[in-house]
Amino acid sequence: MHKHTQAAPAVPMFQRSACAARVFRRTATAALVSLVAFAGTAQAGEVEVLHWWTSGGEAKSVAELKKIMQAKGHTWKDFAVAGGGGDNAMTVLKSRVVSGNPPAAAQIKGPAIQEWANEGVLANLDPVAKAEKWDSLLPKVVADVMKHKGVYVAAPVNVHRVNWVWASPDVLKKAGVAAMPKNYDEFFAAAEKIKKAGLIPVAHGGQNWQDFTTFETVALGVGGAKFYSDAFIKLDPKALGSDTMKKSLETFRKIKSYTDPAAPGRDWNLATAMVMQGKAGFQFMGDWAKGEFIAAGKVPGKDFLCAAAPGTANAYTFNVDSFAMFKLKSTDAQKAQGDLAAAIMGPEFQEVFNLNKGSIPVRLNMKMDKFDECAKTSTKDFVDTAKTGGLLPSIAHGMAVKPAAEGAIKDAVSQFWNDDKMTVADAMKKIGAAAKTN
Ligand code: GAL
Repeated sequence: MHKHTQAAPAVPMFQRSACAARVFRRTATAALVSLVAFAGTAQAGEVEVLHWWTSGGEAKSVAELKKIMQAKGHTWKDFAVAGGGGDNAMTVLKSRVVSGNPPAAAQIKGPAIQEWANEGVLANLDPVAKAEKWDSLLPKVVADVMKHKGVYVAAPVNVHRVNWVWASPDVLKKAGVAAMPKNYDEFFAAAEKIKKAGLIPVAHGGQNWQDFTTFETVALGVGGAKFYSDAFIKLDPKALGSDTMKKSLETFRKIKSYTDPAAPGRDWNLATAMVMQGKAGFQFMGDWAKGEFIAAGKVPGKDFLCAAAPGTANAYTFNVDSFAMFKLKSTDAQKAQGDLAAAIMGPEFQEVFNLNKGSIPVRLNMKMDKFDECAKTSTKDFVDTAKTGGLLPSIAHGMAVKPAAEGAIKDAVSQFWNDDKMTVADAMKKIGAAAKTN
């Protein structure tokens, strides 16, 4: 697998993408822009796929997609850009598109799909989506995100739940912690016991996206679904400046006091490994962490525990991975793109990929008998929270707001996390200002 780790020069999204749009508009008349070749007789083609799935569990999962595409006779060109959460991958993608050389497909999600589609660079997936009846196979909340002006431009892969806490049963036992904490009083009591037992209470990877993942989960637990929605979906200044926000930041800072000094810069999967090896008690992380446990042969309920993070049992922050396809001229390439889109939504891939990835199938009415208890809880909670208003898009994972505001808020949250001298009031001001970024 070749990895691109260096970041491309920092050019604002719209400067780059406007330029990309010009490149593509010039060729638009010549290019066959929808995947009409899907049902045709074109030859097998090459499909270059940009993603950031390079950890153990992630790599195993994406290998399943490669296998399916190879079985259809296509050549898979892996374009893996290391870096959890995908920030590096998105930087590399922008520079490839601006230079007029986009990959066939790229992991793009949430509101960013609309931004790319607005630039006119994404292929129309409707021929595949109609033939395969995606409208009847997807929850509407997901289908809407995949469409631009009513046309499918992205294919969803899974549903990850972000508001989990993972735990080592060995560490809990050694520390005398009887049960998974249901609220922050219980959580801090458990953390104190783990510290006294000479172990690390919280495994954390100090990278902006990991800080933000923990923060949104803490805010959800402290403030509940309505507060989360006002603060992180509506970006309501009142919610962002409220006492609940203050309490969320204070709780977040208190969690930091239970992390180890080596956390800064650590990758998320290495934090998961600390829980796996019995060095740390808890990790706040989405269920791609389960993919790491599973890849290492660990068994849920026995070798590791999963539970909704403190105070969030009735809520569900979702993170749907998806692939958008770029307009390409060659009919072979278009055929490969159509096959890729169909494979992604096919039941075979949805099962095997999600068993490895830690997520649940996004395709409705899938059999769940091969899935473990964590996945079954996730499926039930997805359905239940959709009825009660507790089903919420994850801001840390590109689901809730446009990338510019997300990036600015994320940076402000990490500044607070990294600087113990910054007051909560200052952090609230910075977050409030960042939320106004367009
Ligand atoms: C998320 C992505 C997940 C997982 C994680 C860590 O943004 O949706 O699939 O890979 O990053 O890399």
